Amino acid sequence: MAMRTEYCGLVTEALMGQTVTLCGWVNRRRDHGGVIFIDLRDREGYVQVVCDPDRPEMFKVAEDIRNEFCIQIKGLVRARPEGTTNDKLKSGQIEVLCHELTVLNASVTPPFQLDDDNLSENVRLTHRVIDLRRPAMQRNMMLRYKTAIQVRNFLDKEGFIDIETPMLGKSTPEGARDYLVPSRVHDGQFFALPQSPQLYKQMLMVAGYDRYYQITKCFRDEDLRADRQPEFTQIDCETSFLNEEEIRAIFQRMIKAVFQQQLNVDLGEFPVMPYAEAMARFGSDKPDLRVKLEFTELTDVMADVDFKVFSAPATTKGGRVVALRVPGGAQISRGEIDGYTEFVKIYGAKGLAWIKVNEVAKGRDGLQSPIVKNLHDAAIAAILERTAAQDGDILFFGADKAKVVNDAIGALRLKVGHSDFAKQTGLFEDRWAPLWVVDFPMFEHDEEDNRWVAVHHPFTSPKDGHEDLMDTDPGACIAKAYDMVLNGWELGGGSVRIHRADVQAKVFAALNISPEDQRAKFGYLLDALQYGAPPHGGLAFGLDRLITLMTGSESIRDVIAFPKTQRAQDLLTQAPSPVDEKQLRELHIRLRNANTAAAQ
Ligand code: AMO
Ligand code: AMP
Repeated sequence: MAMRTEYCGLVTEALMGQTVTLCGWVNRRRDHGGVIFIDLRDREGYVQVVCDPDRPEMFKVAEDIRNEFCIQIKGLVRARPEGTTNDKLKSGQIEVLCHELTVLNASVTPPFQLDDDNLSENVRLTHRVIDLRRPAMQRNMMLRYKTAIQVRNFLDKEGFIDIETPMLGKSTPEGARDYLVPSRVHDGQFFALPQSPQLYKQMLMVAGYDRYYQITKCFRDEDLRADRQPEFTQIDCETSFLNEEEIRAIFQRMIKAVFQQQLNVDLGEFPVMPYAEAMARFGSDKPDLRVKLEFTELTDVMADVDFKVFSAPATTKGGRVVALRVPGGAQISRGEIDGYTEFVKIYGAKGLAWIKVNEVAKGRDGLQSPIVKNLHDAAIAAILERTAAQDGDILFFGADKAKVVNDAIGALRLKVGHSDFAKQTGLFEDRWAPLWVVDFPMFEHDEEDNRWVAVHHPFTSPKDGHEDLMDTDPGACIAKAYDMVLNGWELGGGSVRIHRADVQAKVFAALNISPEDQRAKFGYLLDALQYGAPPHGGLAFGLDRLITLMTGSESIRDVIAFPKTQRAQDLLTQAPSPVDEKQLRELHIRLRNANTAAAQ
């Protein structure tokens, strides 16, 4: 006899009058004076099981079961009595009258109630097995699986083939710290876990595979946030003989198809926005277009004001002065403004100047602000005109190095834009907001080290005609690089690659990577590029981020079965953990902590 005939969550009216055998976990047991109800749960959902005392043997077992017991029941599917149906459940019109009940395995009292929504993440991650039983987590895992399989089918149809690349390899240039694996066989030598399969996929293009993809783990030792994990999954792709627009078109179709099929959402056309425009309007290369607030550029009109806070950055190279107009924001209290002032300081801002616009027609006299006394009439007129300020608005100001202004006022834009105030006043639109950000700069100047670094990675191609700028004006050189952004998250990014050795040499020169370093780090790729490397390019999506957005989860950790904490630990298995001295010795490793130092 079959151990089970149906999934609990899939028993519906269609099975009315039939006898079914179900297996699952006791979600809840309710004793209704004489009758016991069990909500039996499996991965497909719940079903209500009714245990009547007129089967005393079965009833006695039912009396003793507790939450999270794993049980098997055999019973008759019947209609629920009128008034007790539940339209939210697939099985909400029926119940199963229990004939036989077997405890397959008892459970100790679980560490928390599965429907408790106020659990700390540490508790959830420590008891991840129980946490993963929660229906919300099971839905997340299911959507992740369905999305992955749809992506595989889509790419397969488009002619992409899945090729595995090594986990034990050489350091790859994605800009984070490597996770290292010591070699036992080669004393003092290390593998690096891949930060991405970047160089392997380029070599596969040189090897003639034409279209590659892989859903694969990447490892980056970097500061973790809500949207970052030390080990995460990429949908990694590479193509030959396609230009930037063609590459973007394929992957836009892929993401649109996923949203259509999995969520029944039409993402529409994706706007394409140059990086420079994104920075000018939103101070961010991944703008959340659901927020209807934009920067107003004021740098050029603040040079001669009597207010050093504005005039100094306006007259210094690399400085920027902007306003952020918040329609209706004059109602924001002083206390809230103080809160925002502290908030922007996290991003390096030294303060947050503001003007409340009470009556724009009155000019200076219609404004309330700690700074207008320091601004001459022409400056005030320019502010009001450029921001198109209306009565009842507030204007916030950022003045500093461009990076500080972009970071601080960009963050303020999101803070205000995601607030209840913005939701109530329509400054936040509840919709999906995808876009492509394109035309990234090739290089970014690292102030601390006073050198140029690659914005994407050093194998990204410059725009046609920009090759010579690499010698003369690296900061002006634009790359064939693109990011897909959704609701303010960078979902994926990629580029057309360099396939010619002379262009690659110029990039290395601009980055000040010596010929010796080039050979030592990337010699194998440079060699491969010499054998008729085809024009090629691609991109990678963060699968975890994609699923986080699709499920509306707060953190990437909610869509990964066994994630790490913000402190890069696995609380379930207690990793990382110390290892035996013997193991270390085999790996030729001696620890540098105080104890070993003392012993030396
Ligand atoms: P990039 O570094 O932009 O590009 O990564 C691609 C995408 O991977 C996701 N991602 C992450 N997700 C979770 N945790 C992390 N720590 C993390 N880091 C990145 C993001 C990001 O958009 N080789 C290039 C791609 C290419 O050029 O083809 C690369 O790795 O969603
Ligand atoms: P202060 O002259 O320092 O009293 O500053 C006057 C106003 O300007 C205050 O509201 C400060 O918060 C604000 N402020 C100071 N520095 C900056 C800055 N770099 N950017 C924007 N506003 C600032």
